[in-house]
Amino acid sequence: MRTIILSAAIFVLASFAAAQNSQPQLNLMPMPSNVQLGRGQLPISQSFSVTITGHHDASLDLGVQRFQAQLSRQTGIPFWRKAGAPGILTVHADHGRDAVQKLDEDESYELTVTDSSANLAAPTALGALHGLQTFLQLVQVTPTGFVVPAVNIKDQPRFPWRGLMIDVSRHFIPVDVLKRNLDGMAAVKMNVLHWHLSDDQGFRAESKKFPKLTGMGSDGQYYTQEEIRDVIAYAHEHAIRVVPEFDMPGHSRSWVVGYPELASAPGPYTLESGDPIIDPTRESTYKFLDKFIGEMSKLFPDAYFHIGGDEVDGKQWNANPKIQEFMRAHGMKSNQDLQAYFNRRVQKILAKNHKRMVGWDEILRPDLPKTIVVQSWRGQASLAQAVKLGYSGLLSYGYYLDLMWPASRHYAVDPMADAAATLSPEEKSRILGGESCQWAEWVTPENIDSHIWPRNAVIAERLWSPQNVTDVDSMYRRLHAVSLDLEWLGLTHDAAREHMLQRMLGTADISSLRVLADVIEPVKDYNRWDDSKGPIDFHAPLNRLIDAVYPESDRARQFTALVQTFVQSGFKDQAAEAQIRAWLISWSDNDARLHPLLEQSFLLQEDAPLSQELSALGATGIAALDYIDKSQPAPADWRTQQQAIIDQAKKPQAGLLVMITAPVQQLVDAAAGPRN
Ligand code: ACM
Repeated sequence: MRTIILSAAIFVLASFAAAQNSQPQLNLMPMPSNVQLGRGQLPISQSFSVTITGHHDASLDLGVQRFQAQLSRQTGIPFWRKAGAPGILTVHADHGRDAVQKLDEDESYELTVTDSSANLAAPTALGALHGLQTFLQLVQVTPTGFVVPAVNIKDQPRFPWRGLMIDVSRHFIPVDVLKRNLDGMAAVKMNVLHWHLSDDQGFRAESKKFPKLTGMGSDGQYYTQEEIRDVIAYAHEHAIRVVPEFDMPGHSRSWVVGYPELASAPGPYTLESGDPIIDPTRESTYKFLDKFIGEMSKLFPDAYFHIGGDEVDGKQWNANPKIQEFMRAHGMKSNQDLQAYFNRRVQKILAKNHKRMVGWDEILRPDLPKTIVVQSWRGQASLAQAVKLGYSGLLSYGYYLDLMWPASRHYAVDPMADAAATLSPEEKSRILGGESCQWAEWVTPENIDSHIWPRNAVIAERLWSPQNVTDVDSMYRRLHAVSLDLEWLGLTHDAAREHMLQRMLGTADISSLRVLADVIEPVKDYNRWDDSKGPIDFHAPLNRLIDAVYPESDRARQFTALVQTFVQSGFKDQAAEAQIRAWLISWSDNDARLHPLLEQSFLLQEDAPLSQELSALGATGIAALDYIDKSQPAPADWRTQQQAIIDQAKKPQAGLLVMITAPVQQLVDAAAGPRN
């Protein structure tokens, strides 16, 4: 990296811990590996400009243009540059980027900001692009204008593979929505879009050799090859690799609708139902895959190619005498043996096309070449097992965004922890990183952003930042700021909720519905599936309250923390109590306003019990505070009644949970129990 000559005296050699405590707070996510706060700040005024020195290529030039446009949006300042004036920010890359981004390219950068200029230096344009994102996150508003604090940042990623998987099969996600998510990924330095292009419900990538894959295996919504090239080029500009996934031999209904000869039982098939899987025993299967993979390998330039391999339901194999005979003749004892045979054959086709195979952890068998990558979704043990056997691995277990977990729960999952903690350094070096996963059973182009963001940013941090960056309070503080930045960038995680609430209520005055929406969350894990009673209709509207609300309620988390503070103060923290009471009153009063509105909308009638429960919890909390204030224990029958209200509110309604039951329970326990 180019050395930056700077007057060392202007930097306070403060550790990051000290920097965190000083003003201003840096809202960086992912947190860089080394931050030293300086003195003073660089004003961002209309004359702000950028000079590129060193290596230039189109990707860096475009990156700088995007940076300037984004800075202009963030500040509302239209920048204009006097001809010949030196740039305030100098961007220098020693080298350009490879035409096809590689896994092991240097992504490091050093950013130095003083009170009069800024310098971004990186070995490659890739690092420079990351550094520009950091600069954008440093911009703050102050009484005297927009500024960037003086700082020296030396940064590089912890893992080279930091991905987001988007399933576009269950619900098709159009190119413009993918692009704004790529913008978001670039903002938090994620560098792999894993594009889950086929599954039972739809085949989404055009094949010119096999046009019935999308022609019959989709509802007409798919990406043309031109669109695919466009997305890949866009991703490349944003320092992001694109790894395609074509799921086989299971999750393959959409393949066999047009090509039933691939299946292990005679068709015909439809997209709507059935569990067909690909027949690994016929040579014609491999002829098909040879042509198909050959075509897709040219379309997708990345060195890695994902073949799925998950959740193979072997019913068709068990029921087919020819397949059973093939297995006997080849000494195969189980369906796993047959899948391993299939994988070896597919891997050879991929190798011929210069691709490295990636698959979900079911592909893990000791007889595959060590070049493959295992993506662990079922637990950290399988990741550890894969790297022990000499394979490379990615962690996705713990990073499933569709499970509706809070950000803190994803944040606590580390690829090097649990089963991986005791691996040797050499084994650990084969853990390439991880990927968050957005499965698309319950998302549409309208609400996918709010299912991915802002939570995805904390997984991005886990994969980029040093392992010891784990402070949850700091994470949530920074996440709040990053979430706002991401909306500036064009993501719609907040805006979509507002629009959906307006649609449900049929009016722009959604204040009372917002009070409810702010403290509820969808049921967790796969409970929505379990409640859906029968197969999911993927063309059904997703326009209910459960589809609009955020996976995680900030308000409930803040309320929980406030009650914690109040209890820990021995019920003496009056500011906390006043805020707790204010929120409880707003909830307690809300149903009277909201209930008549809910009744008027067919989409919201199912949520009336939730609104009642929220108000009941509000009243319970207020009564508990009154007992606490009077320092007299609440009577036993009061407690019994309140317990019934809390227990009722814990039950999901319309797939939704009221998230303040635990802190209200704490207040009731405090009101009823002995206190000092
Ligand atoms: C998976 O979730 N079936 C990879």
